Amino acid sequence: MANRKVKTLQRTKTGKKSEQTNGQASFHNTDRNTIMDRRKFIALASVSTAIALLPRPGRTGYTFSEADARARELVAKMTLDEKTFLMSGNRRNDISRHNKAGARYPNPNYGCPRLGIPPVRFMDGPAGVRFDYRATCFPAAIGRGASFDPELEQRVGEAIGYEGRALSATLFGGIVVNLLRHPRWGRAQETYGEDSYHLGVMGSAMVRGVAKYMMPTVKHFAGNSIENTRMFLNVRMSERVLREVYLPHFKACVDAGAACVMSAYNKLNGEYCSHNRYLLTEILKNEWGFDGFVMSDFGAVHSTVPAVMAGLDLEMPSDTYYAQRLAAKVREGVVPVEQVNESCVRIIRTMLRFGMFDAPELDLKRVAGKEHSELALESAEKSIVLLKNDRGLLPLDPAAIKKIALIGPFASELNLGGTSSSKLFPPYQVSPEQGIRKLAPNVEILMDEGKAPSRAGELAKKAELAIVFVGLTEKDENENRDRRSMTLSRAHETLINEVASANKNTIVVLNTGSALVTENWIDRVKSVLVVWYPGMEGGNAIARVIFGKVNPSAKLPVVWPRTQDQLQPFHCWAPEVEYDYFYGYRYMDKKALEPRFYFGYGLSYTTYNYSNLHLNKNRISRDGIIQVSVDITNVGKLPGEEIPQLYVGYKGSKIEHFVKDLKGFSRVALDPGQTKTVKFDLKAQDLAFYNEITRSWEVEPIKYIVYVGPSSNPAELLSAEFEISN
Ligand code: BGC
Repeated sequence: MANRKVKTLQRTKTGKKSEQTNGQASFHNTDRNTIMDRRKFIALASVSTAIALLPRPGRTGYTFSEADARARELVAKMTLDEKTFLMSGNRRNDISRHNKAGARYPNPNYGCPRLGIPPVRFMDGPAGVRFDYRATCFPAAIGRGASFDPELEQRVGEAIGYEGRALSATLFGGIVVNLLRHPRWGRAQETYGEDSYHLGVMGSAMVRGVAKYMMPTVKHFAGNSIENTRMFLNVRMSERVLREVYLPHFKACVDAGAACVMSAYNKLNGEYCSHNRYLLTEILKNEWGFDGFVMSDFGAVHSTVPAVMAGLDLEMPSDTYYAQRLAAKVREGVVPVEQVNESCVRIIRTMLRFGMFDAPELDLKRVAGKEHSELALESAEKSIVLLKNDRGLLPLDPAAIKKIALIGPFASELNLGGTSSSKLFPPYQVSPEQGIRKLAPNVEILMDEGKAPSRAGELAKKAELAIVFVGLTEKDENENRDRRSMTLSRAHETLINEVASANKNTIVVLNTGSALVTENWIDRVKSVLVVWYPGMEGGNAIARVIFGKVNPSAKLPVVWPRTQDQLQPFHCWAPEVEYDYFYGYRYMDKKALEPRFYFGYGLSYTTYNYSNLHLNKNRISRDGIIQVSVDITNVGKLPGEEIPQLYVGYKGSKIEHFVKDLKGFSRVALDPGQTKTVKFDLKAQDLAFYNEITRSWEVEPIKYIVYVGPSSNPAELLSAEFEISN
């Protein structure tokens, strides 16, 4: 619909051309007026905040065409300044005040008070809504990635969306799907893992869940996987690498209905992501048909014109380069008003579609209430990976034990992880000690913080077994800082070794946001559990796994090498990096290196047997689908859940491919003795590569190898071949 505004051009005091609309006074670009204008907008925006927060019964969730038409009507009524302020964060608003629920207001833009357009209200994640308020703290995303459970992730997303909305936020900014290219990335814990397919499945589940109550944002678009230099880093990559490795998971989230995409701080191929027209407009909006809006990471805009012309719709969290500066550029004729109109339509349309003009009455009691705490527990239980369990030391039977030594800094204090934008403040947290005492009330618990390893060793000698709680903290990995090393600190390694030499039944419980190199100690201990940063119910989840109330089922979403040298280099201080095709498990596959723990690896208290891998066809066309089935039997004594994984290899291709590529996974519950047939649909189109010459996706008519098994370890995979014909 055409913009129905009547436009006139006039000269301002500074002699520049200015747009005037519908007879309304325009804002002139003098300092004095600029300050006045901004104040006026801030004052009005506060009013609209109050209005927007009043529960207004009414319709939510317009259809696309209704929302589009309504948005265009509204935009046609807006003055230029109203439009450019709508496209700007409003830092001076009330973010330092507390709302009725006692939480600080989320970051708003200006909205448009005159027309009743409420501001968007941005709130971070990803372990829950990051209010300074008692919201549920779920496990870190990396742990939820280890659950390989999109159905559960969707429920977590719904709970997060509910809490955020109940606390007055409308835009959830906590869906991180950046590919974990190297485990030392400081924000590894915020994403789901290293595999694009897996990231896409988990991220879209979160998008679908959050979308019930809030507008889901996926971030940071794109190629953001180094912290130290993130503000100026230039990430270079070929078109093929971009299309096949760094973008498909974003596309999956867009297809799942993401409302907003946040542009990353770094540059991609020489251009800041927030100024990157190729990325934001050509690929995201034009090619993928994304109809939501693009927001900058906080402070990621460097200049007005390149950002707006690239397709960046909303500058956050301030109005540094948009607002009156953008209006001035329109008046100067540098930025066409259509570009601004388009951004406003996107913002308003998305708010209407997601029902953000209404304030539904949500029950604050559900925020970190029983239901969400139980969900946090379930999610934590399904995130714990059993890495090692010699002679079946775990699970423990509390009736058969008299004394346990709990050693280390994270035994009596739960390690929640989270840094800066991902740090949560839940109403309570259950420490491992509390969880263990609850399930083993008759067992004597000996405690030592582990500050002096030899003293801890002495204590460990007095117990039948020792559990050492060590790992990383936000000092080691955080937003702004990459990990310096792949190992635990020397202090933690020494502690493990002292305790292990004092007590042959030593179990290690690890907090970490991604892979660790464990060579200095792993052979000396009997059992190892990776609990990531397990959220506020962490202590209960850990205890329930230790005592066998829960059979561990999670798998590693990132390969754990034996040494850092087994992985591709990590240049976290360079101003420019080149990302090539091979990284992580794919890099190690190519070099035929054997990691300590394979991608997809994780033990259980029972044993599963894989058999009868079957393909329903041995040849399909380029748009065909092949059905893969496999039988999985629980041949152990306990019920459990297994995560079968499907990988594909390429045979006789004219180009270089990964040795194998994850293309499917599922989660299946099996009682002892039970067999289930698991089926995967594999589309020929999902095996396409990106042809840089024709600039299109192409499915090669070659042979493909299907691998199915409990991890990416070639020794454990069944395989079969099929062909795609011309
Ligand atoms: C982070 C984003 C976050 C934003 C707002 C930035 O520094 O990179 O992930 O959403 O801050 O807190």
